[in-house]
Amino acid sequence: MTDPAQLAEQVIARCRKLASFSEDAGSLRRTFLSPPMRDVHQEIASWLEPLGMKVHIDAAGNLRAVYAAQGPSSRRLIIGSHLDTVPNAGAFDGILGVVIAIALLEALAGERLSYAIEIVGFSEEEGVRFGTPFIGSRALVGRLDESLLNARDSNGITVRRAITDFGLEPKEIPQAAIADDVCGYLEFHIEQGPVLDSLGLPLGVVEAIAGQSRLGFTFTGRANHAGTTPMNLRQDAMAATAEWITAVERHASTAPGLVATVGSVHASPGAVNVIAGQVRATLDVRHKEDGDRLGTVSCLTGFAKAIARRRMLIVSCTTNLNQPAVVMDPLLTNQVEEAIRKAGCTPHRMVSGAGHDAMILAEKVPAAMVFLRTPGGISHDPAESVSMDDVAKAIECGLHLLCQLSSSPKFQTRTFRA
Ligand code: HGY
Ligand code: MN
Ligand code: MN
Repeated sequence: MTDPAQLAEQVIARCRKLASFSEDAGSLRRTFLSPPMRDVHQEIASWLEPLGMKVHIDAAGNLRAVYAAQGPSSRRLIIGSHLDTVPNAGAFDGILGVVIAIALLEALAGERLSYAIEIVGFSEEEGVRFGTPFIGSRALVGRLDESLLNARDSNGITVRRAITDFGLEPKEIPQAAIADDVCGYLEFHIEQGPVLDSLGLPLGVVEAIAGQSRLGFTFTGRANHAGTTPMNLRQDAMAATAEWITAVERHASTAPGLVATVGSVHASPGAVNVIAGQVRATLDVRHKEDGDRLGTVSCLTGFAKAIARRRMLIVSCTTNLNQPAVVMDPLLTNQVEEAIRKAGCTPHRMVSGAGHDAMILAEKVPAAMVFLRTPGGISHDPAESVSMDDVAKAIECGLHLLCQLSSSPKFQTRTFRA
């Protein structure tokens, strides 16, 4: 099967099949090295076997498989995305990029290129289990460090223990790092926003990925009886957090290009008739300019401290991620734009508000992304979708791109950015 339309139908069916491998009954959640991840590895391995490709799971839990080059090529292009999901996820975020990569190899129908292609399914990009994202891709750039290996999930299990529980060896993490034969990274991903849908375009060219900060705030007041404690004598951690969340939304709504989200709140003791003594809340701040993002983080932290002081509470804050904005590689991005045109589509250059593994790989190698339209702009939700026509266009674009890169000496001779 090499026809993009037929391959597209298979891509969507495969994404839906992988979505059946979940930690939760009735909805999709697949976090770092959870048992369903083993089912995903086996299913993908069964699709790669007919291509003569052997799957290897590296010590960070990334699925790796290489499609050899025509001759003894010294260069390798990585095409990948992530295999983990958020809770109650859609079927396409991350997964689609891996399944499209496999479809491209199937479309080659045995043809070999002047460079090898490595398919990578990253073990963890969302940061759901440990609060810190990009565990898999950080291993490829040599940044899966001790502090991350010692991070603990809500059950107190460390990343290191999760790796050994999965039957992998943390000592082998250095072998997961990419070598200097890698000359580029390409990621197909749904846009996860409304832009391409509003423009009526199937494919987008990602020029840059917005930076993101992720923090944890803990408001500590005084638990007390909800029935006997007068309103003016309370140190109510829930009311303080609610006031802060409103201030976060108000501030972000006035700043162009800024988004700030309090996505998770956990109150304790969490009973209807007890004033909350402590509330833990997360904060996610994004902007394409790092100065704006970091300025916002310090402003919103200041709001939290002022609210806590006035209400006689204590507030503490931890930074779980400070990921700078990343510009995609101009040469590869131009090639993507040309390939989109050859697929008969109008390319639209855009910034990604969502984070991606491409922003981590870009630390070491030229990276580029192709966005697929997200109908209704809905993502991180079971209603997330992608159209078969757009997937077919992405496959056509990908085949043009592989061909362009095969005959681009510049692409294959650029040095490895150490
Ligand atoms: O949160 C994000 O930006 C991505 O979906 N991991
Ligand atoms: Mn996501
Ligand atoms: Mn994603």
